[in-house]
Amino acid sequence: MVKINDNYLNLKGSYLFSTIAKKVKAYSEENPDKKIIRLGIGDVTRPLSSSVIASLYSAVDEMAKKETFKGYAPDLGYEFLRSAIAKNDYKDRGCNIEADEIFVSDGAKCDSGNIQEIFSTDNVIAVCDPVYPVYVDSNVMAGRTGLFDENTGKYSKVVYMPCTKENNFTPAFPEKTPDIIYLCFPNNPTGGVITTSELQKWVDYANEKKAVIIYDAAYEAYIREENIPHTIYECEGADTCAIELRSFSKNAGFTGLRLGFTVIPKKLKVGDVSLNSLWARRHSTKYNGAPYIVQRAGEAVYSDAGKAEVKELVNYYMQNASYICEGLKSAGYEIYGGVNAPYIWLKTPDNLTSWEFFDMLLNKASVVGTPGSGFGPSGEGYFRLTAFGDHEATKEAIERIKKL
Ligand SMILES: Cc1ncc(COP(=O)(O)O)c(C=O)c1O
Repeated sequence: MVKINDNYLNLKGSYLFSTIAKKVKAYSEENPDKKIIRLGIGDVTRPLSSSVIASLYSAVDEMAKKETFKGYAPDLGYEFLRSAIAKNDYKDRGCNIEADEIFVSDGAKCDSGNIQEIFSTDNVIAVCDPVYPVYVDSNVMAGRTGLFDENTGKYSKVVYMPCTKENNFTPAFPEKTPDIIYLCFPNNPTGGVITTSELQKWVDYANEKKAVIIYDAAYEAYIREENIPHTIYECEGADTCAIELRSFSKNAGFTGLRLGFTVIPKKLKVGDVSLNSLWARRHSTKYNGAPYIVQRAGEAVYSDAGKAEVKELVNYYMQNASYICEGLKSAGYEIYGGVNAPYIWLKTPDNLTSWEFFDMLLNKASVVGTPGSGFGPSGEGYFRLTAFGDHEATKEAIERIKKL
């Protein structure tokens, strides 16, 4: 008789976003005249830029002619895109990453969920707390996490590294040594960043402990301050311990188009085994390549005009971030993030729980955000607002919150 993968039964239901949706639905049914403003979404709202659109059109025209039609894409990515990534995201920053160390995919969510497959299920994973849920859930599916404890809000075999205002939202080395360390900077949900010298310590730690860092840099384009690394390969020795995940979703607005990539340096080995080769094998077995037209659109992001357009998009969202931060600070809120990231992480006032603050904001201001406790136990007492809305709605939401 067929058996299911029991590990799936250990997954905790996606309680966070379904509960938010239920509460918002109930509120709007009771208050049909109220205009709800959503500052909870992690999705972009601005349209694709003109260079990207032009590139999509011309790639579609190529697909319409026999001479230029493209079938299956190379499963690791087209050379033109891998070279553009290697040059612009790495070599121009002084990082020696080659095109054949880059694996093009349909986004960082899939890669961050799939990458654990090339590691043994005996490995101990460490995650920041709060955390982007995909890292933990994909390891639950693989059977690496042990059972969930409702009392602690934690899986028994996972090493949780609290990130709170006390440690400036950067984790300390855990007591138990992990094999796989997930780091994400700029961070979702806290909006926190790590300095190059702090990240260097993690790289040194991973090399010493023979651990691997999975570094999610999906929000790299939002970094505005100096001394914040845009890639982990700015740190010495990262090419022997780190895998980097990147996305076109938040810099160029590809959330609906789908494009991302993973970097695995050829020097990254476990014993004699190259992780670059393992991932290449996995990718070519299970993936048939991102669409040609989307990869051409990705290439356009690296043109001079494309780079200027990315800056403009990021500036648009970061104006919202500044507005949210300044507005809420002036109203007496304790605010974190929002400087090098599109996320604002606020401490709930008057010791309210994350959900109590959610209810208050919804019921009194018709504004929706995301309770921090939904991202992990150390998120309790915090709340996430995003800068991905439009200017007018964001301003109105902040005016309403200021009047509470
Ligand atoms: C930290 C982090 N990594 C990855 C992703 C997913 O990116 P993509 O759209 O490329 O799948 C997100 C999306 O919100 C994210 O917050």
